[in-house]
Amino acid sequence: MSDYQIFSQSIKKKTGIDLTLYKEVQMKRRLTSLRDKKGFSDFNSYYQALVSNKELMEEFLDKMTINVSEFYRNSSRWNILENKILPDLLKKNRKLKIWSAACSTGDEPYTIAMMLSQYVDLDDVSILATDIDDKILERAKKGIYTERALKEVPPKLKEKFFKKDGSLYTIDDKIKSAITFKKHNLLSDPYPSNFDLIVCRNVLIYFTEEAKTTIYEKFSRALVEQGVFFVGSTEQIFNPNKYDFKVVDTFFYQKNI
Ligand SMILES: C[S@@+](CC[C@H](N)C(=O)[O-])C[C@H]1O[C@@H](n2cnc3c(N)ncnc32)[C@H](O)[C@@H]1O
Repeated sequence: MSDYQIFSQSIKKKTGIDLTLYKEVQMKRRLTSLRDKKGFSDFNSYYQALVSNKELMEEFLDKMTINVSEFYRNSSRWNILENKILPDLLKKNRKLKIWSAACSTGDEPYTIAMMLSQYVDLDDVSILATDIDDKILERAKKGIYTERALKEVPPKLKEKFFKKDGSLYTIDDKIKSAITFKKHNLLSDPYPSNFDLIVCRNVLIYFTEEAKTTIYEKFSRALVEQGVFFVGSTEQIFNPNKYDFKVVDTFFYQKNI
């Protein structure tokens, strides 16, 4: 077994995170570069340092999870959500149940809440936002962002829902209170169910094909009939039928049994 494989096993035992379900070439490249930067020449010595140094471990978890996000990321897709998908979902059910999976800093679930606030009372919707990374969830709950994360937010929503303080923007409490943040590992935790809409973007690309297959099956089961699954802009599903999905628009799949 290689140094990296032994490292993967030890990390799994220690943190529950299974690195072997992430594409190995990419993950190994990213972690090798971090390890080298920290001054370790092999994964064994890096692991020993990680278990005895909390900061180093946090930095490792940070790097391996890749937390980049922004509001209305790939805005043309969010326009499709708003103008084509949501009206249909709302016709069937005004009390939507939504899951933003792998939500990172919260930009995505807050985008959903701001968008919905224009059409329904937020007290009537439930938005669950999950991520594997505790630290990022803490940041998400605070809801503080730089201008850059907000560049695609429609001006009237930016005006209405953000308070500017120096160079930072804080999201409104009304939007915050519409979201429940929770820790969830897509690769190992049980999935909640009965969602009208699941948004899971820009994380599936990091997983192996095998892991993705299992995740698609679980998301399909987690949706109500006619529920919609919204994926990232490089994450088209190769064989949607296999998961009872029908393509409703590029990157949007509807569950049809
Ligand atoms: C690039 S961000 C995507 C954020 C947001 N969905 C977006 O599209 O802007 C990827 C997120 O996936 C999370 N993640 C990585 N592995 C995960 C796993 N096994 N289960 C749940 N979340 C995971 C990371 O912590 C990170 O916050």
